[in-house]
Amino acid sequence: MRSPLAVVVLAAGAGTRMKSAVPKVLHPVAGRPMLAHVLASVARLRPAKVVGVIAPGAAAVAKAFAPHPTVTQKKPLGTGDAVKAALPALAGHAGPVLVVYGDSPLVTTASLQRLVETCRKARAAVGVLGFVARDPSPYGRLIVKDGALEKIVESKEASAAETAIAFVNSGVMCLDGERAADLLGAIGNDNLKREFYLTDAVAIARGQGMQAIAVEGDEAEFQGINSRAELAAAERAMQQRLRGAAMAAGVTMLDPDTVWLSADTKLAPDVTIGPSVRFGPGVTVAGNVRINAFCDIEGARIGKGCIIGPFARIRPGSQVAEDVHIGNFVELKATRMRRGAKANHLAYLGDSDIGAASNIGAGTIFVNYDGYGKWRTLIGDDAFIGSNSALVAPVRIGRGANVTAGSVITADVPANALAFGRARQETKKGRAPPLRAKLKARAAAKRGKGK
Ligand code: UD1
Ligand code: CA
Repeated sequence: MRSPLAVVVLAAGAGTRMKSAVPKVLHPVAGRPMLAHVLASVARLRPAKVVGVIAPGAAAVAKAFAPHPTVTQKKPLGTGDAVKAALPALAGHAGPVLVVYGDSPLVTTASLQRLVETCRKARAAVGVLGFVARDPSPYGRLIVKDGALEKIVESKEASAAETAIAFVNSGVMCLDGERAADLLGAIGNDNLKREFYLTDAVAIARGQGMQAIAVEGDEAEFQGINSRAELAAAERAMQQRLRGAAMAAGVTMLDPDTVWLSADTKLAPDVTIGPSVRFGPGVTVAGNVRINAFCDIEGARIGKGCIIGPFARIRPGSQVAEDVHIGNFVELKATRMRRGAKANHLAYLGDSDIGAASNIGAGTIFVNYDGYGKWRTLIGDDAFIGSNSALVAPVRIGRGANVTAGSVITADVPANALAFGRARQETKKGRAPPLRAKLKARAAAKRGKGK
């Protein structure tokens, strides 16, 4: 049997460049905290143990790690010190220890796996994921000789010759669990930053005759986030990845660069998405659905064959069954629309259940809020709600009922009833011309006075 894997996730850095009251690793990328992306990539390795290293008082970060345990690094004395802080939580662990950063959400399971496997095979004491950087200046340089990793030199400490090296440290490191404690214990802080550099583990291992290796990966995976600009860049990269995966799975996007997905967006094959559509967290869309331009959908399930938008907003708690049509400027909130129901134009449908094949006319408002409580509107199958109606909740409209246009409905309407909730029309024959004459004279008199 192979030895189990442990993973240490570093998240104790100060993150000052974000200029935020929110801990850096909790800022969202594609609708989920960046730390959750890292933990998802790590989880697919099926590690025996995951330990988070957090800053003192970072309760929200500890919560984001749950159910995994966290240890507190008392002071941010460097990456070496941070991993060392995790060791007590790994007592008795003999297999590889993988170190990843909580602020690098783009790292993939495949790359982590490759590093761990290569280290196992080579029986390396230390292995790192490296990449060739377009701009190596912020990174530690990997000094490789005859295929073996000799040492890692931090940017600030690099000689001119080392500075010219573009092969750099991603920060992802794999340590042999049996030797990790000794290696970490030997790291000092005799350097320009007075920090305990985890990267020194390489030279220490080599000095003791152990193996160290570097495995090359793609720069795109190792973008760390230190600032809002880097957060935006990571978002862009993540969106690119999610769009690519959706299209590969059979989704058509008319203008992919303008479609914004969440990490958990589920789109079935043969979904077609128009330009400028945003999916917030928690959306599932079944096959043959067409989502036209400028829709915003969050926390909703959309059934097969629906046509949504343009300009529709579907808010959390909504469930849309098969063959439903939701048109322009229609807002749903916590609303269920059953099979074949239609709301094609200009409506607010909140806290409601709309029966199969019912039609909601243009300008309909479900009056769900009275300033204190939210109330539900329940509509049976095959009902017809005339345009510009206000249904004042709580209210029930029975199956097959017809609410006439312009009604304000404050009482339940039974099945198959016809409901009027509007003033009766009066029509006066021949009275338009005299009215026009009167209005014209009044306007002329006003102009006369003005002179
Ligand atoms: C580190 C590496 C560098 C690598 C780069 C990749 C070291 C010494 N240097 O540099 O070789 O190219 O990452 O991005 O390791 N952290 C803690 N506690 C600490 C310090 C850091 O938890 O005391 C965490 C941070 O939250 C962050 C990660 O470790 O997630 C990296 O720290 P950071 O200060 O950004 O390292 P760099 O100087 O960028
Ligand atoms: Ca960094």
